[in-house]
Amino acid sequence: YPTATLHLNEPALFVSHLQPRRHNSHKGSFGNVAVLGGAPGMAGAPILAGRAALHAGAGRVYLCFAGPPLALDAGQPELMCRAAQDFDAAGAVTVAGPGLGTAPAAALLLARTLAADQPLLADADALNLLATDAALHAALAARTAATILTPHPLEAARLLATGIGTVQSDRIAAARGLAQQTRAIVVLKGSGTVIAAPDGRIVINPTGNPALATAGTGDVLAGLTGALLAQGWPAWEAALAAVWLHGIAADELVEDGAGPIGLAAGELIPAIRVALNRL
Ligand code: APR
Ligand code: MG
Repeated sequence: YPTATLHLNEPALFVSHLQPRRHNSHKGSFGNVAVLGGAPGMAGAPILAGRAALHAGAGRVYLCFAGPPLALDAGQPELMCRAAQDFDAAGAVTVAGPGLGTAPAAALLLARTLAADQPLLADADALNLLATDAALHAALAARTAATILTPHPLEAARLLATGIGTVQSDRIAAARGLAQQTRAIVVLKGSGTVIAAPDGRIVINPTGNPALATAGTGDVLAGLTGALLAQGWPAWEAALAAVWLHGIAADELVEDGAGPIGLAAGELIPAIRVALNRL
């Protein structure tokens, strides 16, 4: 990966990290994902992330609600619902942000997560909090455990204290700059998602299509990526694989006539599972 060269994302870059499941494996072998989100009225986002994590192979998935917790996800009772303030996420990969909100209580929960020495994916409102709270931003840059940020262009613009036009006019520079500034892997989403590492590596993703331009697809990507981290993938390859799989699932659904018009984010999840098992 010479830093001057652009690479197109493809399975050859990450497939070696897919581990065949040993015959005697058990749920503890595939890690725990804790989704931190779910402010009042925002339960859908963590549910989508949690369902995606479950179907991407995480051993256990917890939904940790910043607001009053749901009793359960009736459509997916495998997900364990908790109040975030009471939940000890030690040993889990945290997917922070889906529907988290930006209230002070959410900022406190995010501060605790940033300080924990375990892999973290920050999306959506976790990114919005990081953009406005200098102490949180400092805690992010001080992390040593694996960290992935998944901003859409507006979230990236907020983090870079610039405008969305500046981000979109040079997406590679924006992703690379944000990765260097935060010392995290950055997934700058949108058509032609850019994946950037703090050392300057850049990969452009060719899969995906406008069927993905619908609410909740970002939450699905966050949960999928968290599940790969929980299963032991290194962060860089987890990001590459998740973005590629998310896009190929959408491409196959469109080929089958389920889009581009009217695809719902949750419909990606079974297609992602198929694509992952076929890798
Ligand atoms: N081509 C390819 N991929 C696309 C396209 C496209 N034309 N449009 C969207 N996508 C992909 C993006 O790359 C990304 O993976 O769909 C996903 C969209 O993610 P988000 O922008 O985060 O959208 P969303 O799921 O609605 O986010 C949920 O989080 O960011 C907040 O404000 C947002 O409340 C919303 C929530
Ligand atoms: Mg989003």
